[in-house]
Amino acid sequence: MLEISKVNTFVGKKEITKNINFKISPGEVVGLIGPNGAGKTTIMKTILGVMKFTGQISLNKMVVTENNHQALSNVGALIEHPAIYPFLSGRENLELYAQDQQDCQQIISLLQMSAYIDNKCKGYSLGMKQKLGIAIALLNNPKLVILDEPLNGLDVEATIVVRKIIVKYANAGTTFLISSHILSELQKVMTRIILVNHGEIIVDQKISDFNRQNRPQYQIQTDNTELTVKLLQEKQLQFSRDNGELIVKQADLFAIQDLLYQQRQHFIKLTPIAINFEQLIMNELKRQRGEDDAK
Ligand SMILES: Nc1ncnc2c1ncn2[C@@H]1O[C@H](COP(=O)(O)OP(=O)(O)OP(=O)(O)O)[C@@H](O)[C@H]1O
Ligand SMILES: [Mg+2]
Repeated sequence: MLEISKVNTFVGKKEITKNINFKISPGEVVGLIGPNGAGKTTIMKTILGVMKFTGQISLNKMVVTENNHQALSNVGALIEHPAIYPFLSGRENLELYAQDQQDCQQIISLLQMSAYIDNKCKGYSLGMKQKLGIAIALLNNPKLVILDEPLNGLDVEATIVVRKIIVKYANAGTTFLISSHILSELQKVMTRIILVNHGEIIVDQKISDFNRQNRPQYQIQTDNTELTVKLLQEKQLQFSRDNGELIVKQADLFAIQDLLYQQRQHFIKLTPIAINFEQLIMNELKRQRGEDDAK
């Protein structure tokens, strides 16, 4: 439904993102991840046609340009700070955009905003404003919802509420592009990961493939560590040392088992080490830094 091809975004003459290519299918929840300044907000703004760019962006086969926003009629977005009129109530703000009262009321209920929705927004807390911004993005049954740091300022309960709404809309076919630094939350909803660094996409994978590729490593201990190290080196199997224990790849386990068996050695310990999602992302960024240094 969204297709981005060879997109470079500029501020003045400065190139902010380079050669961005990706496609999103209906109902996908895409997590846009990357360090501060990587280009996430820029990519989102570019899709919304508010940045100067080269390349092609199309939404449901309609082309987005800086001047033609017709393709964006089915897109809801929250970018940086929500655009809210402080002297109107939350409900009045929503009604400025809403095409359907029932839809509007449903979103207020879903986001649990009924208690304060008729108060003037100037008295809203950060989290209340953020929820109102999410509500505006969800109005009118958009086909694509773009949320930049939607969990900013939300408490635990509101975070869970927003997560459930994302899943509910995605199950009904709405597509999401979401940036967040709260990886543990994003991990619970995203079906695809796009990792951005220095204005370039370095990972674009289904989350199941990303997780499979980064299967856990194993910590092993054998009868004779030095002999095991020698055997691994001879067979050029990757490992790292952690005192008397060795850390090896899951993919190499059977080969290692065979090697040990031939030498009448045994595993004394064999423990999977789960790497958490944050660590996986850090590893990807480190790997890219290594590749950049090697260039
Ligand atoms: N208007 C602008 N003028 C000059 N540089 C800009 C402008 N907007 C963005 N940039 C630069 O573009 C780069 C990407 O910024 P962007 O806001 O897209 O990052 P981000 O990934 O959203 O970061 P964060 O996680 O902090 O929100 C940064 O180096 C930033 O300094
Ligand atoms: Mg940003």
